[in-house]
Amino acid sequence: MMGTSILVKNGRIIDPSQGIDYVGDLLVEDGKVAKIERKNGHTEERKGRKAEARKNGSEEEIQEIDAKGMLVFPGLVDMHTHLREPGFEHKETIKTGTLAALHGGFTSVCPMPNTNPVNDNPTVTAFIIKRSIDEGFCHVYPVGAITKGQKGEELAEMGLMFEAGCIAFSDDGRPVMSSIIMRRALEYSKIFSVPIISHTEDLTLTDGGVMNEGRLSTTLGLRGLPSAAEEVMVARDIILSELTGGRLHIAHVSTEGSVRLVRQAKERGIQVTAETCPHYFSITEAAVRGYDTNAKVNPPLRTERDVKAIKEGLRDGTIEVIATDHAPHHLDEKLQEFDRAPSGISGLETALSLSLKLVEEGTLSMSQLIEKMAVNPASILNINKGTLKTGADADIVLVDVNKELKVEAKKFASLGRNTPFEGWTLKGMPVMTICRGKIHEIVEDGETGNR
Ligand code: DOR
Repeated sequence: MMGTSILVKNGRIIDPSQGIDYVGDLLVEDGKVAKIERKNGHTEERKGRKAEARKNGSEEEIQEIDAKGMLVFPGLVDMHTHLREPGFEHKETIKTGTLAALHGGFTSVCPMPNTNPVNDNPTVTAFIIKRSIDEGFCHVYPVGAITKGQKGEELAEMGLMFEAGCIAFSDDGRPVMSSIIMRRALEYSKIFSVPIISHTEDLTLTDGGVMNEGRLSTTLGLRGLPSAAEEVMVARDIILSELTGGRLHIAHVSTEGSVRLVRQAKERGIQVTAETCPHYFSITEAAVRGYDTNAKVNPPLRTERDVKAIKEGLRDGTIEVIATDHAPHHLDEKLQEFDRAPSGISGLETALSLSLKLVEEGTLSMSQLIEKMAVNPASILNINKGTLKTGADADIVLVDVNKELKVEAKKFASLGRNTPFEGWTLKGMPVMTICRGKIHEIVEDGETGNR
């Protein structure tokens, strides 16, 4: 008999799903987590098994990885990703996007449905899943559209898409402006126990805005997009969630008022969860000065006050998820003038390092950070991920928290080079990502090792 095992030795293993945080060894067998033991725990056992294997004339390959000084935790789960395929392969493909995921420490991603065609029917869902199996580097869990063509007019075939593999529904990129359609979506989603992910934006209030509304937008002569455009819809959807009992997840929270509304809703026992993204707690609207289209994102970058409120929301548990909203765009598209350029940041490859700052500054503990980037999104989506429990897929990330790296978008695995963090020196890098027991070494020039 011949088997392949991986022994990750001497790392600090952190798995909040089991309350683990200690230096130990982690054994992977046949692509699954086989065992975790405190330091040196199963070294003897492995020797014994090797000797036995020799005696039996069988051969067992054990690949040992020295993780001394590294953190070892469950592969991250990004519940908000744009992989752009089908239809926008010049921005990203399932192949390049999932490779970027591995580079960022993510082993599961959830592509949003704003592709072309829109993922609003089981055929598109099946295509995405098949393409992911054929060409992808990590697990892919599609998010189906709430409405046909994301037009906000008629519910999509949610039941059929759920059967085909969608794990949540969203019209992300666009809001569901009709309250009755949102009500029906929340009601319908209860049948499948999946969340409705809301892109909260009142289009009558955004009214063509391209950056945060305030003094700076006036100074720059750019049309502003008020916080209220987000908050009005957060409030509406919370009310509809209360009415229907449906599970609501608020995407990309960017304002102080949204944090407050979600906090109050939770206090009242409403089934609402929320995510924010690294750019909403790392930078402010000031990044737009100089008309840098890489800082154009929807919702827009806000103010210091909002950043502070978002950090407080992360700290007190109001916001339980950090997602990337990885939104790659082609260079030519971002090279247009600010008004015309598309919104979005290529985020998969900087998300973990930016989020590790929250640990360094004391906003979150390491374990809380892993909860927000792996455990909580998996539990909201009801997928068996974000854990190192015995028998789970061996999706693991090894992180060197002291390693510094300068962000150079041209080295991204993603086709999207649109980052406002170009030139930043970030501390804390994934050095190896294991997905389904397959090792991907991340080397400094942005190339991976063996696929
Ligand atoms: O900035 C954004 N880009 N926000 C969205 O909601 C959609 C996304 C995209 O698809 O480019």
